[in-house]
Amino acid sequence: MKPEDVKWRIIDKPGETFKVHRSIYTDPEIYKAELEEIFEGNWIYVAHDSQLPNANDYFTTMVGRQPVVISRDDEGKLHGFINACTHRGAKICRKKKGNAKNWSCPYHGWVFNPQGEILDIKSLDTANYPDGFQKSDYNLTPIKVDSYAGFIFASINTEVQELEDHLAGAKVFMDMFSEQSEQGLEILPGTSVYTHHGNWKMQAENGVDGYHLDVVHASYLTLAGMRAKEAAEAAGGDNIKAIQPQNPDTTGGNYALGNGHVMIWIDIANFRDRGLGLQYDSLVERVGEHRAKWMAGRLRQVMIYPNVILFDGISTQMRHWRPLSQDETEVTVNCIAPVGEPAESRKRRLRQYEDFYGASGLATPDDLTEFDACQEGYYGAKSPWQDFDRGMKSHQMGADDDARSIGLEPESSAERAADESLYHGEYRQWVKLLSEGAD
Ligand code: FES
Ligand SMILES: [Fe+2]
Repeated sequence: MKPEDVKWRIIDKPGETFKVHRSIYTDPEIYKAELEEIFEGNWIYVAHDSQLPNANDYFTTMVGRQPVVISRDDEGKLHGFINACTHRGAKICRKKKGNAKNWSCPYHGWVFNPQGEILDIKSLDTANYPDGFQKSDYNLTPIKVDSYAGFIFASINTEVQELEDHLAGAKVFMDMFSEQSEQGLEILPGTSVYTHHGNWKMQAENGVDGYHLDVVHASYLTLAGMRAKEAAEAAGGDNIKAIQPQNPDTTGGNYALGNGHVMIWIDIANFRDRGLGLQYDSLVERVGEHRAKWMAGRLRQVMIYPNVILFDGISTQMRHWRPLSQDETEVTVNCIAPVGEPAESRKRRLRQYEDFYGASGLATPDDLTEFDACQEGYYGAKSPWQDFDRGMKSHQMGADDDARSIGLEPESSAERAADESLYHGEYRQWVKLLSEGAD
């Protein structure tokens, strides 16, 4: 694939139009290039600190097509390796997570430590290896690993830029997320993993799509309104207190944060019903009124390109994904919460999470139906262009006043959460990574 094979698929005329060719969701050649240049060439979110908190903990996952193991050594430092024995390739760590001072390969017994060093080759003294054989040539193959605010990222590409440079403006919102408690965040027990029909880029679009909210999630919003009404009339108990964001078509905003990362924000009318909202007054004391408003009073959904969204909206969720083919995606979701929050807040957060974000909640099945419908529609090659012009006239490059007020210098700002101009940032990064890779 050459750069020109990629570039024609995006029409980017600032102030005029921004279109994406639907072949990028269906073309197997594009899919292959995305695996190489984006999923195996860039930083990928892999885990949260709380999933491997102790010395000698490890966590296994995939980066693109490649199995990896992330480990923490006895000094607390993170490492990452291809999860394949340097002898004959068997996966070394086979559980999702665990704790071990040494990893013994179940196939022929070679032993490694969490720093990836080979400690033992079974019966080395009788092996008759050739003269040039060096045990140290068989350390595990390292990958790049780093973390920011407790969120751990890995890259197969050891030449990738520094993580903090990659994260760009997303760091402002990652800080806001992790500062919900002075002790940071924790992934709560219970992980849902599901696959769906639909290209991975739909995940990267839909989780920051303010425009679909009142259409696809009409049943959720109607139910939330009914529950609130019933509770107000004292006709029934309401232990969920469903969160009701304001109209994204008239309020909030969105930002392109650099390097493909994007976010939307919307004010929440009943924010005091949120897990963090229940502690609003003490939050104001700790972080000040303005920051408290951003942290507890506003829905924020932050997509860190290319594979994770931090949701701080209806509840708090980490959602990350990996492509399985151009037509199929695997999604992993967790509820994430402030460490040490009061029991009442935790309970509220969990009920709201199940209500909306859980795999069988009121939101997920409705979104999956649309992914299915879009992926089928994308094969209608006679109608090939995707439109991202909504909000173009009011969209501005650089920071607006809201961004400046939190020290954010975004690539672009928009004044409504339902505007679609944030996708320009996302797809400019897509075309950059793929065309540079093709070069
Ligand atoms: S494959 Fe691991 S020791 Fe042989
Ligand atoms: Fe949705």
